Amino acid sequence: AKEGEENLRSPICCIMGHVDTGKTKLLDCIRGTNVQEGEAGGITQQIGATYFPAENIRERTKELNANAKLKVPGLLVIDTPGHESFTNLRSMGSNLCDLAILVVDIMHDLKPQTIESLNLLRRRNVKFIVALNKVDLLYGWKRITNAPIMKTMMQQTSDVVHEFKMRLNRVINQFQEQGLNSKLYSENIEMGETINIVPTSAISGEEIPDLLLLLVQWSQKTMVEKLTYVDKVQCTVLEVKVIEGQGITVDVVLVNGVLHEGDLIVVCGSQGPIVTTIRSLLTPHPMKEMRVKGTYLPQREVKGAQGIKIAAQGLEHAIAGTALRVIGPNEDLEEAKKKAMEDIKSVMNRIDKIDKGVHVQASTRGSLEALLEHLKSPGVNIPVIGTGIGPVHKKDIMKVGVMLERKKELATILAFDVKVTAEVGKLADKMGVKIFCADTIYDLSKHFKSYIVAIKE
Ligand code: GTP
Ligand code: MG
Ligand code: NA
Repeated sequence: AKEGEENLRSPICCIMGHVDTGKTKLLDCIRGTNVQEGEAGGITQQIGATYFPAENIRERTKELNANAKLKVPGLLVIDTPGHESFTNLRSMGSNLCDLAILVVDIMHDLKPQTIESLNLLRRRNVKFIVALNKVDLLYGWKRITNAPIMKTMMQQTSDVVHEFKMRLNRVINQFQEQGLNSKLYSENIEMGETINIVPTSAISGEEIPDLLLLLVQWSQKTMVEKLTYVDKVQCTVLEVKVIEGQGITVDVVLVNGVLHEGDLIVVCGSQGPIVTTIRSLLTPHPMKEMRVKGTYLPQREVKGAQGIKIAAQGLEHAIAGTALRVIGPNEDLEEAKKKAMEDIKSVMNRIDKIDKGVHVQASTRGSLEALLEHLKSPGVNIPVIGTGIGPVHKKDIMKVGVMLERKKELATILAFDVKVTAEVGKLADKMGVKIFCADTIYDLSKHFKSYIVAIKE
């Protein structure tokens, strides 16, 4: 940047809120994608990232203010699940972001995971905007695609306006009960401590351009210090997953600095520090969700802030939520390894030590943790002895076979969103190991429960 000019990186914005408030749909609306309809059960079960370049934001908001000065190169948005079991991913999102959108369904009250999200954000002092979503569901609402709410509001009957105001005030009161002042953003001139409420519809796109512009302008106006780009690499592991043709990869969010192909990196692993070299750096296409399987663009180097998929040897035991460090030529590798393992304590107590339980296999580290959380929850209570990510292998079947002698019904694999080949299935049958597959964590526990009930009868 030239002297006197700000050198800002893209703000990282997390989208949070109770299940089915429309987080993914809102992003679909901005991206022009259909991620939500492709989700098993319409549930988000992974953390995702999408990069919106400034030129796309300008295009999407040009009717509002053609001369809007965008000082940031873009916006990196992190989608989070709203289901109860996924607190780990919500917590990770709130740890990473510079600002957030808290989505509330206008037809419902503030729900538990909205309040949980709110508290996660508050704890980290992250400022947020409320998207009061699904306004199109108000009885008698007349839609105007992508229009600003004030324009749409003039089209509505007095009954609709009345209902809108009543529901808005109810939400404002519920935020008040949480100790927060909030206001409709068009009436919130000062934008100080009072939280902005932006009414939206992810279906008709109403107020979506306004929301986008507000996010960018607000961040570049009030968060200059936080958003000033620095060279030192700041990078967090989001997910660990198997990608066909690439082996085990990690999805990371690079906040600051530059990563290069060939960089020597250190990552915190459950079996000790992982030292490896970046084999390939892949980015999703702009305006595309990183968690959706698709084509990625290979890069020689990537500058923050950006979501990146990294392929390298030995990443299997990498732990999501920990830092990825780059070792420069003059840096001390031993020191970096020590540092990398410092935050392991907080993560390790997530895995309990027991001697009888089922084996759990999942497609990603994040969904594995959520699944474990779910299996632990009071109404479910399924003991777990082993875990893994990626497809089920013969060696997993052999390991689980040991349980046949300890507790037969627990000689079971709960496989979430992973492949089981016919060969592996045959071996399992032969040994008497049960495999349950499902593409939502809730169906998986249900299948297993009915199996247990059937055995007992
Ligand atoms: P989780 O990720 O599972 O927590 O849900 P989510 O918050 O991402 O919600 P999602 O995008 O999956 O939307 C949930 C349901 O609400 C879907 O059926 C959407 O089509 C619907 N929906 C989302 N936004 C709107 C909206 O503005 N208007 C209407 N009418 N329906 C909406
Ligand atoms: Mg979602
Ligand atoms: Na959903």
